[in-house]
Amino acid sequence: MNQNILLIGGDGDLAMRKLYPALYALEAADQLSGVESITGLSRALEDREQLLEKMLPWLQALESFNEQAWQRFQARITCLQGDATQASTLLQYKEQLDDDNPNVIVYLAVPPKVFGGACRALKESGLAIPSTRLVVEKPLGSDLESFMSVNAEMRATFEESQIYRIDHYLGKESVQNLLALRFANVMFEAIWGATHIDHVQITVAERVGVEGRKEFYDEIGALRDMVQNHLLQVVCLLAMEPPASRDPFMIRAEKLKVLKSLKPLADEAIKRYTIRGQYKEGSMDGAVVPGYVDELNSSESGTAKSNTETFVALRAEIDNWRWAGVPFYLRTGKRMHTRASEILVQFKSPRHIIFGKGDAITPNQLRILLQPNEGITLHFLRKEPGLSEFTLEEAELNLTVTEARKKNGSYDAYARLMLEVLSGDQTLFVSAEEVEASWKWIDQIIEQWQKHDVKVKPYTAGTSGPVDAAVMIAQDKRQWSDIEP
Ligand code: BG6
Repeated sequence: MNQNILLIGGDGDLAMRKLYPALYALEAADQLSGVESITGLSRALEDREQLLEKMLPWLQALESFNEQAWQRFQARITCLQGDATQASTLLQYKEQLDDDNPNVIVYLAVPPKVFGGACRALKESGLAIPSTRLVVEKPLGSDLESFMSVNAEMRATFEESQIYRIDHYLGKESVQNLLALRFANVMFEAIWGATHIDHVQITVAERVGVEGRKEFYDEIGALRDMVQNHLLQVVCLLAMEPPASRDPFMIRAEKLKVLKSLKPLADEAIKRYTIRGQYKEGSMDGAVVPGYVDELNSSESGTAKSNTETFVALRAEIDNWRWAGVPFYLRTGKRMHTRASEILVQFKSPRHIIFGKGDAITPNQLRILLQPNEGITLHFLRKEPGLSEFTLEEAELNLTVTEARKKNGSYDAYARLMLEVLSGDQTLFVSAEEVEASWKWIDQIIEQWQKHDVKVKPYTAGTSGPVDAAVMIAQDKRQWSDIEP
């Protein structure tokens, strides 16, 4: 089946940094043979040569870059200059295609304000036929209302089954591995829930700051940028009930139930169990890093102040049978001391201790490293060998997957996701209902922050976030796991 990929926003940042490299990686792995053409569409692009010249350095930076694959890849590339919200532009595109009923994948790598116009133009030009797939990604709105409106614009032209909403965390190997860990191994299911699990922590720490997106980020903040999508998707995969099959409808339905069971955080819970942080000047790798507000002000003459969080920590609860009373502590932040994403599942202590008082019983922990290293470690206790008194010592079962993974090549999340779009499998994409349910939960937190005038707490760039986050979890007599790269 010949497929054609149309990248609207074909010379933009997302296309250059992620989409062409992902498609090229598939080419290098011989996975693009069914693709007839890849077309970059943009108002600014002059010609194909200019497009190739612009994308080449991004592809050359890839480990998999080689001349033969590049030759094959560039033979598929075409370019179109024009306004994607005009049917005439898309008609021109249609005429380039050999087939009268072409298989087209349209990637909207443009801001959501363009989605409506582009979808209408796709319809008018006759390109929005049942075989067409539409790929979009965040920001899909900045609250429930704006999501509903952008989604309605897409749904006026496309069916839900044609829309592929990307959350790039679902394309990460380690995140998909959660499904394998939970549902391909019998031993976890029996202990997976409130009876044996004390609490869960999910940390996504970043070293980067807000990079080139100051204005955008200042409107959004860490809760909307990271928790509404990536962290909640990880919560879903960890907490969902076993689906009846790997069918996308089954998996999405189970994830949706988790999102709908999230307990709203109101009043006391907002004050005690949500922490907003904002980085101030600090030092990273021996160099001074400016604070968030200084970065905001650097482009203007300004003295802008901001109450936008670049760090957030909160305690979520899933109000259902399996998870009743088990806190899920989530935290994510920019300009932290390390880049590391991990999950900690802490089990309860044994109900009855038969060992001496001197022996501290550290509870079992399952740590799942998501990135940059990938691996799973299980911490447990064993007897210290020898003739001396019966003493316990900590031990660790370690399943580091990085080496194993290298053998099969490592792919960026976008390569995996593009492959899934090409094969028409929506499992790794987020349904409208999921986005809706997660915005509902996030919106009420933001409303409560406004109601209680919750201010950001400063933390020094290059540290693990505001002290208040440690105080938050200490109220529950628990502590954050040490995150190291
Ligand atoms: C994006 C956020 O969705 O994810 C960024 O908008 C963030 O702010 C990025 O830096 C993190 O992705 P990753 O794959 O580097 O963890």
